[in-house]
Amino acid sequence: MKNISMLINANDKLGHINKEIYGHFSEHLGRCIYGGIFVGEDSDIENVHGIRKDVIDAFKNIRMPVLRWPGGCFADEYHWKDAIGKKEERKKLVNLSWGGVTEDNSFGTHEFFELCELVGCEPYLAANVGSGTVRELVEWIEYVTSPAVSPMADERRRNGREEPWHLKYLGIGNENWGCGGNMTPEYYADLYKQYSTFCRDHGDNHLYKIACGPSGNDFNWTDVMMRKLVNYGTGCASGLSLHFYSIPDWNNKGTACEFSDEDYYELLNITNYTDKLISTHSGIMDRYDPECKIGLIVDEWGTWYDVEEGTNPAFLYQQNTMRDAIVAAISLNTFNRHSKRVKMANLAQAVNVLQALILTEGRRMIKTPTYHVFDLFKNHQEGDCVYCHSENFNMAEGKNTPALTSSASVKDGVLTLTAANCSIEDDIEISCKLAGFEGREVSARILNEDLRAFNDFDTPDTVKIAEHFAKLDGDTLTFTLPKCSVAEITVK
Ligand code: AHR
Repeated sequence: MKNISMLINANDKLGHINKEIYGHFSEHLGRCIYGGIFVGEDSDIENVHGIRKDVIDAFKNIRMPVLRWPGGCFADEYHWKDAIGKKEERKKLVNLSWGGVTEDNSFGTHEFFELCELVGCEPYLAANVGSGTVRELVEWIEYVTSPAVSPMADERRRNGREEPWHLKYLGIGNENWGCGGNMTPEYYADLYKQYSTFCRDHGDNHLYKIACGPSGNDFNWTDVMMRKLVNYGTGCASGLSLHFYSIPDWNNKGTACEFSDEDYYELLNITNYTDKLISTHSGIMDRYDPECKIGLIVDEWGTWYDVEEGTNPAFLYQQNTMRDAIVAAISLNTFNRHSKRVKMANLAQAVNVLQALILTEGRRMIKTPTYHVFDLFKNHQEGDCVYCHSENFNMAEGKNTPALTSSASVKDGVLTLTAANCSIEDDIEISCKLAGFEGREVSARILNEDLRAFNDFDTPDTVKIAEHFAKLDGDTLTFTLPKCSVAEITVK
């Protein structure tokens, strides 16, 4: 057992944790949309207008705040008009980004906005810049948000939706340095300005426009984008995206469930690098925008392994163990601590793809260890992130892998602390001083299993949240974090 001291100072506020930091991403990729979220009205799986009821309920339980759609790489080949109107008349589509499979476009704009309404989350549209046109995007915005009498709004009404939807988040392009068109930052920035100029607000709807940001450590991309966009005028860009996956070696990703301790340390090393990565991008952004008016939007993050044996390599289907739960805890604590600049983050992806929240097989549905981390962290949403610092130790000799990760927030008189013990050898006893906060009651929940434990369709609850013990004595909070655990402690 290691003894660790921690200090939380509720008077020292680091940033406001936008609920969107707990956001998600759903792409037309593999079984994320079809089968995972949408099964069609005629399915014998319980559904609301074709959308799986079990998935809606699971999303609601973690208070999913925002959902990005329809891609990813797929967004830059998506033509929204092909997926509205009568389903039997919709154009079929070959998904050239992901496996060349044909889909029937039965999940389109109306179905996506209905999903968001059912879940109670903000929709986040990723628009086609790579192979679309300014006009196509302008018309999509009009179709979705215009209350006026206009060609697109009238078409929406003919398709059964009288009132416009609310749309805040609009991504103008995706990975335009890669699958979104292989552009230089200079070229994309000019193109972005052209698109952005015509993406206008309709009625009382206000768009928060997000420009495509860098891949990982492409700091030049951030610099060029900030230089070219920041003084261009209000409303040009409210956010700049960042994509960063926890992948130690792109040529040798390994599988989700079979890995060595060494693989685990390497994965945590790269995950911990997120902190430095965000600091460096934020530093560049600070030079142009010291007041943090432009948010850093980490709209793709998570683990990425080789697919499960026997599944389509283009479908990116992977299992999810306690290792992924630890990665999620490190990442979310990092985003909280950077909440002054990070305004949204979206795990890749919501169902059946990469570090999924949920896996489905026919009518069966399971919640992954990663899902439970979002459950443990949900009380941070809309809280103020406060100073939280602890002693730490490297969990393996000679490796730069801190055993403890944590963050704390205060909202409505409740202090929420989330912490994970990443060590696979040592339990940790924490003694935490609370400054600037007086509490009386404490409660705790924990996710604690073997590092390689996972949920599958026959044993869906191997990894699940349990009540945990924590003690409050005056201004000192004490609790134990067993090895390989993620916990939430609340004090009020
Ligand atoms: O999430 C899978 C893919 O990863 C997305 O389509 C793309 O944006 C990224 O490269």
